[in-house]
Amino acid sequence: MENNKRPDSMKRITNETLAGAFIDEQVTLVKKQVGDKKVLLALSGGVDSSVVAALLIKAIGKNLVCVHVNHGLLRKGEPEQVVEVFRNQMNANLVYVDAIDRFLNKLEGVAEPEKKRKIIGAEFIRVFEEEARKQEGIEFLAQGTIYPDILESDGVKAHHNVGGLPEDLKFELVEPLKFLYKDEVRVVGKALGLPDGMVYRQPFPGPGLGVRCLGAITRDRLEIVRESDAILREEFAKNGLEGKVWQYFTAVPDFRSVGVKNGKRTYAYPVILRAVNTKDAMTATVENVPFELLQHITNRITGEVEGVNRVLYDLTPKPCGTIEWE
Ligand code: XMP
Repeated sequence: MENNKRPDSMKRITNETLAGAFIDEQVTLVKKQVGDKKVLLALSGGVDSSVVAALLIKAIGKNLVCVHVNHGLLRKGEPEQVVEVFRNQMNANLVYVDAIDRFLNKLEGVAEPEKKRKIIGAEFIRVFEEEARKQEGIEFLAQGTIYPDILESDGVKAHHNVGGLPEDLKFELVEPLKFLYKDEVRVVGKALGLPDGMVYRQPFPGPGLGVRCLGAITRDRLEIVRESDAILREEFAKNGLEGKVWQYFTAVPDFRSVGVKNGKRTYAYPVILRAVNTKDAMTATVENVPFELLQHITNRITGEVEGVNRVLYDLTPKPCGTIEWE
């Protein structure tokens, strides 16, 4: 337990100079820990796994094997960004796994939220395990554990889902960020040259868009969630809300309603917009988005996304709502 306590002497990393010193120190420590052996990392493209990847690429280059599992539930542009940043720009050893059909087939007809989460988690472990077995000579597993994960749980990053690997794949852990708070991870990520879009990314649940495509996931509604979310994000960025609002996204229910377009009756899905502020995600307030902007986003979503005829803004704080809809 003692080596899971942040050393009292450790300075808060608030600027590039302190981040640089931290990076140098960790590069030395990682090199010492793993030598010329290979390290495996599940790279989701979230802040923590991306910063671990960039740090380990600096320390051990191609001996870091990054596995990016595309489960089909990522936001628009995310898998492409992982490939662009890590394979093309950082020259990483990146294994990209297209597991979209596998996940969506497993999820077909499953409407119960906890069951959906379990299927996504279990399938993630299975895919990652298969990729791990294909790699020769792996002895270490890197994880994006950060200090709040240690304070809040038993130190295992549950939503990275690697806690469930079988015994023979229980590698020695490499956790260079385990004493850092989230703001420090972002400063280190910036210093490592990661793009702002990755470093300042808003929280995104492990099961991804799967918990925002309500009820049983269908490919058409999943596309509606992904496209409407992209429009919401684009408009928030254009209107100065990107860095201001803690979390914002869209959700799509599994029922349709009547509408009218070009003089013809439609029977299509509603899109729900959600934008909230919070400190710790235990309680949350709703962002007071300007009405004109909500109207503009509504017009864009109903005009540009196939199969949508209404847009709703969720005015419910937490409690009594939760942030996500599932
Ligand atoms: P709720 O909906 O419980 O969400 O108010 C609080 C925060 O947690 C995120 N969230 C998840 N994160 N796996 C995750 O890694 C999940 O299954 C999950 N469900 C919710 C949510 O996005 C919000 O930031």
